[in-house]
Amino acid sequence: MAANFIDTSKIPRIALGSGQSIPSIGMGTFGSDKYGPGEVSAAVAGAIRAGYRFFDCASVYGNEDRIGAVFEEALASGGVKREELFITSKVWNDMHGKGDVLLSLAKSLKDLRLDYVDCYFVHWPFPNYHAPGCDGDARNPDSIPFSTDKFMEVWAQMERIADMGLAKYIGVCNMTIPKLEAVLKRCKIKPAMLEMEQHPSFQQQELFDYCKSRGIVVIGYCPIGSPNRPERDKAPGDVADTELPEIAAIAKARGIHPALVCIKWAVQRPAIPIPFSVHEKNYLANLKAVTEDPLSPAEMEAIKGAERNCRLIKGQVFLWPGAKGWEDLWDLGGAITP
Ligand SMILES: NC(=O)c1ccc[n+]([C@@H]2O[C@H](COP(=O)([O-])OP(=O)(O)OC[C@H]3O[C@@H](n4cnc5c(N)ncnc54)[C@H](OP(=O)(O)O)[C@@H]3O)[C@@H](O)[C@H]2O)c1
Repeated sequence: MAANFIDTSKIPRIALGSGQSIPSIGMGTFGSDKYGPGEVSAAVAGAIRAGYRFFDCASVYGNEDRIGAVFEEALASGGVKREELFITSKVWNDMHGKGDVLLSLAKSLKDLRLDYVDCYFVHWPFPNYHAPGCDGDARNPDSIPFSTDKFMEVWAQMERIADMGLAKYIGVCNMTIPKLEAVLKRCKIKPAMLEMEQHPSFQQQELFDYCKSRGIVVIGYCPIGSPNRPERDKAPGDVADTELPEIAAIAKARGIHPALVCIKWAVQRPAIPIPFSVHEKNYLANLKAVTEDPLSPAEMEAIKGAERNCRLIKGQVFLWPGAKGWEDLWDLGGAITP
């Protein structure tokens, strides 16, 4: 019978600027409005046993309390030490006001049963939020366009929690090059990480290279193309990464699931994918994939051809009155969309 855990020393690691290093794969914890806190936290417990040491959490996923109980038990049992884990959380868009970032982190720390998180992220770079589980047409009339000044007010709060030792690193999500250009020069503490959508049909090569050249570690979300994403994030024309001919051909030749080709590609880029699954067979296979049979240079090259510019998490529910369409969130014209 195959082992149901992976030797953690075999999992490649990525260096952070500080000299610390982190596993080159993590586990996502967003249940996609489909899996409840009990199912996700059970998967986290299984994933710790399997050898995962990096967990991507967020207050808006609505499950940090249950996941915290799992961390508490794992640490108390002595099976894993706190310093071996890399645990992230994120401030949701409705907690950007003065003093709110600290409040939000305090709640996440209480729920996660931790004294500090390893990285705390700004989940989206504006205070626009939607109700949990909303559909794709939902809009909040209070939504506003990105403002560098407003973002810096949030970032100052992030820097404060880093200074307080409540987050070892601070990071951003869902940013663009124009937004980073505006923000980076005003940061006292630069973001250590950018969490961004990344999968073979949406490689974001320019943003990836931008981060690499500035020492910002890339965490890739939706690494398998998020086949079970919420309905609000599905649109006509979206492609399925696991069905792309470039991915399917490599999977077929190797006799593995196309999801594992996506994971290997991400790790070899190198970025840190954070695939989600509640199924042991799948999350174990994802972890194992990064420890064996790397893709060849020719296979890596072939996957460059899988690029389809297919953004899945378009974010239209965050649009402000007067915005033209979801493209406005992503500064496609090369400047911050006013
Ligand atoms: N910062 C942000 O704004 C942001 C946005 C989106 C997501 N995220 C993070 O990124 C994480 C991952 O994104 P995601 O869950 O949307 O997408 P994903 O990881 O690309 O896809 C997850 C889906 O892939 C399936 N899967 C996983 N491993 C598989 C395997 N080996 N074989 C076949 N199917 C497999 C799972 O199905 P089964 O459950 O059936 O196995 C699951 O439904 C989230 O959980 C969250 O932590 C962050």
